[in-house]
Amino acid sequence: MGAQKLFEQEEQRRLLSNRLATTFFLPGHGGLMDQLLEWRKEFPILDNTVYLISHSLGAMPRRTRDRLQEYADMWSTRGIRSWEEGWWMMATNVGDKIGTIIGAGPGEVVMHPNVSICQSIIASCLTFEGKRNRIVSESLNFPSNLYIYHSLERLGAEVVSVPSDDGISVPLSRMLEAIDERTKLVSVSHVIFRSSFIQDLKAITRRAHEVGALVVADIYQSAGTVPVNVREIGLDFATGGSVKWLCGGPGAGYMYVNRDLWPTLQPRLTGWLAHEDPFAFEVGPNKYADNIYRFLNGTPSVPAMYAAMSGYEVINEVGVDKIREKSIRQTSLLIDIAENAGFKINCPKNTVDRGGTVVIDVPHGQQVTTELLRRDFLIDHRPGAGIRVAPHFYSKDEELDLIVREIKTILETKAYEQHSAALAH
Ligand SMILES: Cc1ncc(COP(=O)(O)O)c(C=O)c1O
Repeated sequence: MGAQKLFEQEEQRRLLSNRLATTFFLPGHGGLMDQLLEWRKEFPILDNTVYLISHSLGAMPRRTRDRLQEYADMWSTRGIRSWEEGWWMMATNVGDKIGTIIGAGPGEVVMHPNVSICQSIIASCLTFEGKRNRIVSESLNFPSNLYIYHSLERLGAEVVSVPSDDGISVPLSRMLEAIDERTKLVSVSHVIFRSSFIQDLKAITRRAHEVGALVVADIYQSAGTVPVNVREIGLDFATGGSVKWLCGGPGAGYMYVNRDLWPTLQPRLTGWLAHEDPFAFEVGPNKYADNIYRFLNGTPSVPAMYAAMSGYEVINEVGVDKIREKSIRQTSLLIDIAENAGFKINCPKNTVDRGGTVVIDVPHGQQVTTELLRRDFLIDHRPGAGIRVAPHFYSKDEELDLIVREIKTILETKAYEQHSAALAH
């Protein structure tokens, strides 16, 4: 890269940082300060990027660095004693911090590396012989979940995929009609990852229970931005991860299992930590623990849990209700700005139906995204949907304006073309 180009990029970064450093007021609120902007200090990356990608990777809290240091200190000074002094209990102690966000009780949430593992453990508790062999799921569910269910066809499962007409939403009536006495498991995403559409978990769970089916909700795209209360809804299972709205980074997935079900479930995807007395190292069939540990398998991802804790603490401190209130205001504002600029919106416009992400369909979406990333505007693109833009509690209104203007500039100047050429090679 030439010196001139490097200089221009540096200059661009400096200008962006300057713009982000100024104070902003709520539009239409008589100059009221947005109190949540106080949290910006806690997230270093916000100083020099337009960070609108919390649906994919939430910003790292400053205190996460201290937690990771703590982990290293513990390992290097306490060594093997670290397990007894905390590490063994982390799978539930850390899970409890998520429990308070999602309405689960103490000891009802257990940590795993990711959602795909959690969903596989749940599936491994069930059999699919006989007449009740159906898994009902929306066609817009996250692909991992669907891959797992389809793999169960080898064991007799029948997957019922409930279609969407517009690629954004799934009609509730269609979901409810698909659930009947042949249904063993209903699997739904609370918020659809591609379109941000919120599904009615209460109505779906009610219907499933009426016909004797179990329900697992993937709450990855809701926990931390849309209020969710697993107990109030009456969910049987919930799975999620920490990478996105919870600002916890990778490797810290979690699962909730309704405690009334514990005695009835014996996961086939299991391991020594699910045993009632793991350190007896008994051979033979597993004698499952009578608590949430029965859903564990092998050694948990300790460093990932250290990394994740600060995010949960921050979300608990801010409060999901406040986050949702701001998210509704900012996503509505962003939709207005994008529509005024002439872009199509590929997510629900009705606030009740919309999670924390706005999907903006722009021409040459993938190439425009590459150029935005190069300019320190952090967002992503999903084929068939558009550019996903997600303000979180730490976002400024000004950033919403900035990103739409940047997309327009990139399109007008055809700056995306260099990436089209790169893709063609
Ligand atoms: C709704 C939803 N479920 C599951 C996943 C993936 O989960 P994991 O990578 O933890 O298996 C994602 C995104 O990465 C998602 O948005």
